[in-house]
Amino acid sequence: MAVRKDTIWERFLSPIVRSLIDEEKLRQLYESIDWEGESDRLCNPQVIYPHYYSSQNFHGIEGGYLNRSASVTYDPITQYVLPPNETWVRQGLIDRIKGTPRRILDLGCGTGSTTLMLKQAFPQAQVMGLDLSPYMLVMAQHKAQVGGLTMQWRHGNAEETGFPDASFDLVTASLLFHETPPTVAKSILRECFRLLMPGGEVLILDGNQKTLRQVDWLTEVFEEPYIKDYATQSVEAWLGAAGFEAVETHDHWWVHQVTQGMKPIPANNRAATQRQGFTSNTPQDFGSQGTPAPAF
Ligand SMILES: C[S@@+](CC[C@H](N)C(=O)[O-])C[C@H]1O[C@@H](n2cnc3c(N)ncnc32)[C@H](O)[C@@H]1O
Repeated sequence: MAVRKDTIWERFLSPIVRSLIDEEKLRQLYESIDWEGESDRLCNPQVIYPHYYSSQNFHGIEGGYLNRSASVTYDPITQYVLPPNETWVRQGLIDRIKGTPRRILDLGCGTGSTTLMLKQAFPQAQVMGLDLSPYMLVMAQHKAQVGGLTMQWRHGNAEETGFPDASFDLVTASLLFHETPPTVAKSILRECFRLLMPGGEVLILDGNQKTLRQVDWLTEVFEEPYIKDYATQSVEAWLGAAGFEAVETHDHWWVHQVTQGMKPIPANNRAATQRQGFTSNTPQDFGSQGTPAPAF
């Protein structure tokens, strides 16, 4: 797989960003990690990499995310490519969460930047990040350890996570769907629906589809094999098709969007929920419902 040299990133931006990154520090970080040991521990040998994932380069990196260097360079580069400010962009997802979730799953969590912020926002919650790349998970785990945060990391495919139905009351995905073919995004959203308890919420932070359709060059910045397909479609429509209700999209600055939806509460449960004083914003305790907990 040859790396494309004609992207705006390769031609103009990469040299600028490289000059801003402390490569020696990155090399030291890379060498400080026991890659064999850590990735062996996190790796689930039963995971089968989908063709769209293992057959493409992403961001000009051969092998995409199945490459250790990609996981070490991801954060230093991402801070410069999420305008106007990476933390503010990610906070946009967290600010839209209704209520106080207790079990949170972050799909396609990568190096865990949003996952860590979710844990900081909801310290009492069990927070898990799931990703197809064991190397991204090694970095996520490293960041959680440095930050003193107790979280779980799972190597797996977001299309088929293997967790029991209704295991979570919040499922999130940040910057995932512009990197998957739309058929995969739709299948991930069906999995989100299955994983959520009634009244649970899904939140998707990603590129602003309206802007990407209007400003063509934005889809040419990086080597992103599926971003043009992403731009022509609608995350909002995908959520509706997966069965979510109260679906809404909020523009977040002009290049990002946050789309959210709720898994409907069946009418008979709604009455019981009201009797017990629960609302969809304060999900019931999993234990009292007898819902099997995911194997954290
Ligand atoms: C652009 S990164 C985003 C990472 C992180 N969510 C963030 O906000 O920085 C996309 C991530 O999605 C992961 N990914 C892609 N397809 C996936 C799938 N089907 N299941 C789980 N992870 C997937 C990749 O390995 C990569 O870590």
